[in-house]
Amino acid sequence: MKFFIDTANLKEIQEAYDLGVLDGVTTNPSLMAKEGIKGDANVRAHYKSICNIVDNNVSAEVIATDLENIIKEGKELAKIDDKIVVKVPMIKDGVKAIKKFSSEGIRTNCTLVFSAGQAILAAKAGASYVSPFIGRLDDISQDGLELIAQIRQIYDNYGFDTEILSASVRHTMHLIQCAEIGSDVVTCPLNVITSLLNHPLTDSGLAKFLADHKKVNG
Ligand code: E4P
Repeated sequence: MKFFIDTANLKEIQEAYDLGVLDGVTTNPSLMAKEGIKGDANVRAHYKSICNIVDNNVSAEVIATDLENIIKEGKELAKIDDKIVVKVPMIKDGVKAIKKFSSEGIRTNCTLVFSAGQAILAAKAGASYVSPFIGRLDDISQDGLELIAQIRQIYDNYGFDTEILSASVRHTMHLIQCAEIGSDVVTCPLNVITSLLNHPLTDSGLAKFLADHKKVNG
């Protein structure tokens, strides 16, 4: 399973990359705004800085919502670096744009997916990734993980190539259950990735090993 970090913060991306387990980055307009990145030139420069840190798979989201401008903006984003994946919302013109990008070899991430039907459309259009938002479904008392399992089953039934990118992952249990279900990718904040390190028996076990070693070696 691939690990993507869900942030536009360069320091956090670097920290996750340095851990040696990072496969990509997802951003969205809210995450870019959180970093105070504004204006086309600054946005592009920021995406380039992210691409300079990681090896591949940097999702950059279009702001346009009509076909002509999604295509125009997506092509400009794709030109920034080969690592860019154009992130397109699950709307009618978004699906048309994904089909067009896919026919031209431009990788896409279909975002804001909340149902199996939307995931089928994304796959039929040729999206490289589909992003179902687990946490936001949980927030409205729908089971986000059940949706991941449903999409896994459907994609396997028909051999769709689209990778399931579980998004809006809020904690380690989300991540682990995504792995059990067979999600291809999870994207989550840095603290979810680093929390995987934690176990009290690891801490107490290491303390004991070091104390025993010190007793003999001084
Ligand atoms: C995914 O690509 C989105 O950026 C993200 O996972 C949304 O997460 P949130 O619901 O925590 O904002």
